[in-house]
Amino acid sequence: MGQSPCLSESFKTHMKNGKMRAVGVLPGKRVVSLVSHPAPEIASASQVKIRTIEVGICGTDREICSFAYGTPPDGSEFLVLGHEALGEVVEVGASASQFKVGDLVVPSVRRPCPHRACSPCQSDRQDFCFTGDFTERGIKMTHGFLTEYFVDEERHLNLVPSELRDVGVLVEPLTVAEKALAQVFQVQQRLPWENLTAGKGKGYGKTAVVLGAGPVGILGCMTLLVNGFTTFVYSRSPAPNPKSDLVNSLGAKYISAQTVPLGRFAAEVGPVDLVYEAAGVAQISFDVMKLLALNGIFVFTGIPAEKPAIPIDADCLMRDLVLKNQVIIGTVNADRPAFEGAIRDLGVFKRRWPEALGSLITGRYPIEAFEDLLLDKGAGIKSVITLE
Ligand code: BGC
Ligand code: ZN
Repeated sequence: MGQSPCLSESFKTHMKNGKMRAVGVLPGKRVVSLVSHPAPEIASASQVKIRTIEVGICGTDREICSFAYGTPPDGSEFLVLGHEALGEVVEVGASASQFKVGDLVVPSVRRPCPHRACSPCQSDRQDFCFTGDFTERGIKMTHGFLTEYFVDEERHLNLVPSELRDVGVLVEPLTVAEKALAQVFQVQQRLPWENLTAGKGKGYGKTAVVLGAGPVGILGCMTLLVNGFTTFVYSRSPAPNPKSDLVNSLGAKYISAQTVPLGRFAAEVGPVDLVYEAAGVAQISFDVMKLLALNGIFVFTGIPAEKPAIPIDADCLMRDLVLKNQVIIGTVNADRPAFEGAIRDLGVFKRRWPEALGSLITGRYPIEAFEDLLLDKGAGIKSVITLE
């Protein structure tokens, strides 16, 4: 192919048998197991080979392991799991000039659909694919990163500074908040909403509520705080608990939905300018939607499992949406600016909350621990599989 691959020493020694361990999901057999997977090779000059350092486990992975969704690539019995990865470049194709051996990278998740008429996919905005024929690494029809090495096109990789090695695995889950907030500020440009006082943050003077205190919620909370929002986290577990302690230590306020009912919560927070939903639960979301202020905006990021229909206060919500100029948006996946924003903000978080940021990663495990991490509900905040 004309490329001049440069292999690092560790990679050469490892590659002797040409096979790698991977965590595979076999939907046909309803099995999740360690599989032996051929080590990937660079197949074109624009590709990069990466040694996986860490892979984060999230609710999406657990859903895939319950066979709710997740599709292997055509012709494969299994899907290699994993879409939240941090890796180190071990080989670069001749034209992959942005990267060099030893660089830390985080790959994006979604790959464009093949249709020329899909303008988002044709313009690197596959997060807005129109056809639904996109693929997602570790989720839909393309193997993921929960294995020892992977190859990708350089345009799907994002450079991570070496100072962020210990927290780089949080980049992908942070892109959820980055893309959400970018859209919030974009949508709210329809009116003078943003704070313009220099040095205070665009959300200064506004109230935000985060629903849920999982990794996406807590990373969202951090993002809102650095943007100046007065931030509350409304989540099920009674306080105090490790998540409430963490949230309060950031300068936000944790309130338990189990012990503080909606009415009291409403009285405490007042009108809410922004709701960032990261709980994946409809009932609490539509209840809290009623607290939206004039010109308020509600962002859904959760993906609830299928359940029976629930009653919601639809007329009240509809009346408010109209009379209060409110907006509801759903957001999935992320574009390159969201990855770049996440990498930048992780640096900001690390300077502002060095201990709290690291404490989001509550466990690091070897690949053999996959069953406990994927088939159980998940303890702690963010569990990570370490491959080196
Ligand atoms: C991933 C997204 C993906 C979504 C739906 C999430 O867990 O972070 O990248 O688009 O699942 O598959
Ligand atoms: Zn995820």
